[in-house]
Amino acid sequence: MKDRRSSWLERFLEDAKTLTKYDVGITSERLARRLGVDPSEILKLNSNENLFIPLDFLRGLLKEVVEEVDPRFYPRDERVELEEELARRLKVHRDQIVLGSGSDQLIELLTYAFLDRGEKALSITPTFSIYERAVRTRGAHYVPVPLMEDFSLNVERMLRLAEAEEAKVLFICSPNNPTANQFRLEDVKGLIEGFDWLVVLDETYADFATYSMVDLTRECENLVVLRTFSKVFGVAGLRLGYAVSNVDVSSALRERFQMPYPVSSVTLRMGLKLLRNLDLIKEKIESLKEERAALIRRLSEMEGVQPFNSETNFVLMNLTEMSSDEAYRRLLDQGIIVRNIGRVLNLENCIRVTVAPRPMMERFLEAFRRIIGR
Ligand SMILES: Cc1ncc(COP(=O)(O)O)c(C=O)c1O
Repeated sequence: MKDRRSSWLERFLEDAKTLTKYDVGITSERLARRLGVDPSEILKLNSNENLFIPLDFLRGLLKEVVEEVDPRFYPRDERVELEEELARRLKVHRDQIVLGSGSDQLIELLTYAFLDRGEKALSITPTFSIYERAVRTRGAHYVPVPLMEDFSLNVERMLRLAEAEEAKVLFICSPNNPTANQFRLEDVKGLIEGFDWLVVLDETYADFATYSMVDLTRECENLVVLRTFSKVFGVAGLRLGYAVSNVDVSSALRERFQMPYPVSSVTLRMGLKLLRNLDLIKEKIESLKEERAALIRRLSEMEGVQPFNSETNFVLMNLTEMSSDEAYRRLLDQGIIVRNIGRVLNLENCIRVTVAPRPMMERFLEAFRRIIGR
């Protein structure tokens, strides 16, 4: 009995070792302990959360939700109400929407539903790491195609490889994390039209950019668009995302593949309230865009810093006179957490910084200028 058990456990652990650990980076609490300061003094700019949305506003809505929701029951009408409100806003049919616990979970669901073990998924590099994680956890193969030097899509090469590798899923993140650019509409359309299988278009950052392709989900049967409340609504901690696709795909995902209660009633009701406060959210998007432009301008004035244009709520920059490891470490010493990206194509020392309200950006820029020595 004992032997049988240890052999399955061994096999499981061996399999697990072939997968990469997900690193969420140092937490504010841990860094605060290390520096001997209060966690509120840590400036967290590494996960593209949205600090423009006032905490008081969110807590106010949450208090209302707590009064309205009965946690003794599984989610009931909260789900339908949110789907209906989203459908109205997006001008799609309610049945086209699949809600999930963050878009991460929907990426996992899509991978599970559309890929068998040993099959292949195509994507780009660099991009969001969760696609590779989801594909490999499924026992499938991940084929990344490098972006062009100007961060655009190499459509021709992608389609050629998709055919040669018989890829069953194509992941495109647009605007892309970490390069922060939204791909040309024609290029994305070319991929959707040229690829015979499922295209997952991750529009996590589309609210900070120029266009969305949600409309196309009605006519393109192989397109699933992913969106999330984490960034634009500033509720990353509540875990709420959604997928939009044609009714056949979305209904099958919801009814056949997904577990019955993927999102809590509290989160569902909060999502509804946020959609009813879109004026404030839109105003904050505008403030964020202004701050983003100011940050890029100030960074480009610094010698040894090469910031890239952004259509997201973060800015990618390459350091030409200092390693990103060193800049990252020295910012940590100042209580500032950024994302140390390292190599992006032929750029060796990239870091990624979340755009935050003015006082936070001032603190970041002051510390950064001191570190860079300009
Ligand atoms: C491109 C991209 N997709 C998805 C996610 C995950 O979003 P969610 O919080 O909805 O799981 C992120 C989070 O940073 C992201 O950058």
